[in-house]
Amino acid sequence: MDEKQRVASAVAATLPDLSLEEIVDKIERPKDANNGDYAFPTFFLAKTLHKAPQMIAADLVEKIDQAGFEKVVVAGPYINFFLDKAQVGAEIIKAILADPAGYGKKDLGHGANVTIDYSSPNIAKPMGMGHLRSTMIGEAIARILEKENYTPVRIDYLGDWGTQFGKLMAAYQMWGSEEEVKKDPINTLLKYYVRINTEAEEHPEYTDAGREWFAKLEHGDKEAWRLWHWFRQISIERFRKVYDMLDVHFDSFNGEAFSAQKMDDPIQLLKDKHLLKASRGAQIVDLDAYKLTPPLIIKSNGTTTYITRDLATALYRKRMFGHAKSLYVVGAEQENYYKQLKAVLKEMGFTWWDQLEHISFGLMNLNGQKMSTRKGNVVNLEDVLNDSIKLARQQIAEKNPDLPNADEVAKQVGVGAVIFHDLKNDRRNAVNFKLEDVVKFEGETGPYVQYARARAESILRKGGVRDFSAVDLTKVGDAAWDILSFLSQYSDVVERAAVNYDPSVIAKYALELSKKFNQYYAHNRILQDDEGQTARLALVQAVSHILKDALAMLDIKAPDEM
Ligand code: ARG
Repeated sequence: MDEKQRVASAVAATLPDLSLEEIVDKIERPKDANNGDYAFPTFFLAKTLHKAPQMIAADLVEKIDQAGFEKVVVAGPYINFFLDKAQVGAEIIKAILADPAGYGKKDLGHGANVTIDYSSPNIAKPMGMGHLRSTMIGEAIARILEKENYTPVRIDYLGDWGTQFGKLMAAYQMWGSEEEVKKDPINTLLKYYVRINTEAEEHPEYTDAGREWFAKLEHGDKEAWRLWHWFRQISIERFRKVYDMLDVHFDSFNGEAFSAQKMDDPIQLLKDKHLLKASRGAQIVDLDAYKLTPPLIIKSNGTTTYITRDLATALYRKRMFGHAKSLYVVGAEQENYYKQLKAVLKEMGFTWWDQLEHISFGLMNLNGQKMSTRKGNVVNLEDVLNDSIKLARQQIAEKNPDLPNADEVAKQVGVGAVIFHDLKNDRRNAVNFKLEDVVKFEGETGPYVQYARARAESILRKGGVRDFSAVDLTKVGDAAWDILSFLSQYSDVVERAAVNYDPSVIAKYALELSKKFNQYYAHNRILQDDEGQTARLALVQAVSHILKDALAMLDIKAPDEM
């Protein structure tokens, strides 16, 4: 509960006809500190209560419970609230220390399942920076929802089916060899893939060959399936390395191929509901009523399409998980596609169509340039992470040459820096990635937050106190109030992040808390031997807990020393 809510609850107890939200809306923050920390105006009650605002204020103030306030006084038509900051501040610290991981949670989910389809790279290509966004946004959302007691189901919907995959097989048949693939699996597959895409511009027969191979796969051809298994395995092993570096772990790798085996369901239903329409030899669904272009369900050569697989996937997920929400963390360029997907489900008569939500995000540019997998102009995520770790290692060597576990810390800082950079802005904005800006200990970066928290831990080590149960926390001092009132907003912040599926809310909060803490540290002697010292250390401990908790929600580690 933050302070505004504390004031609102005190008022609400005396005005049973109004909701807490209505009262929260009315509460103001007086510009002049002489008028208290918060004020409640009574004008709006005059009509219903048939009394002058001044009278109403005078009546209410008699009934208001003063606990947690230094004083509550009438000032004309206003009731002014002066918080008992020592008392309230002590309560905040106590609540955090009592349950660091539970602080800030509102239990919005009551355990309900939420499927999160994220990362979902395409087989036979190294994961590019583009997929970093989906992976990190998806993982952070999973962790934020977990904090609010939802049960996330993490699904990596691998792109392991479709004509692109047929193209790769065709390329392998033309130019590939088992030996070459075994030597450097993923790069070799990428090489074939890029080559066939480039050369297909002049050789349309390559595209046909790709289509044929895909049709073979759909009809259960043995050789096609052998290659499919092999290529898929190579890719998963490679992706796993990156996921391990990022500490991302999926519940399922069921991708397009898995759904391709479940096609009968949606197609039969579409037929039963007479939703399929012939169009130039193919089958489509008319979405004119939604002002959407009609999605292709079955192609003229009889093969199914990406959206048919997604329809099968959606049906399967609902049946399997009974989800309250089903999220798809995919780039903004696919917005129209998800509108189509939802519209078709609605047409099919599924009332849960609107549980599906496209969690859209902007492009990732590299040093100001666009990336494209098809043309091979893509940066390998693993390389980026390794470069970032190297840079972090150098900075640690300069700043703290004696750090004992420097390599491990460099990993946490390097990887955390890349993740934080990805999550710190509204996900719908484009991100420009430039390594030197990402791995900085100053500015709006992950290392800055990690550093603030490591500083807190270092103070605690010097202070030597870890058990604060017997400490008089009211002695923390007025200078701490800015941090304390900010800490009390944490649960609202977590709620906002969860409701909007927006990790940047947490990232911005962590930055701001770090800034406030660094300011406090610069202007106050925490380890001064006076009656407030242990209370100040308790405050430092509380800050450290919350910074660690916020970073954990973003899937970023918090080293104790760096
Ligand atoms: N593989 C796709 C891509 O790389 C993303 C898949 C998203 N999930 C889905 N169910 N369609 O763009």
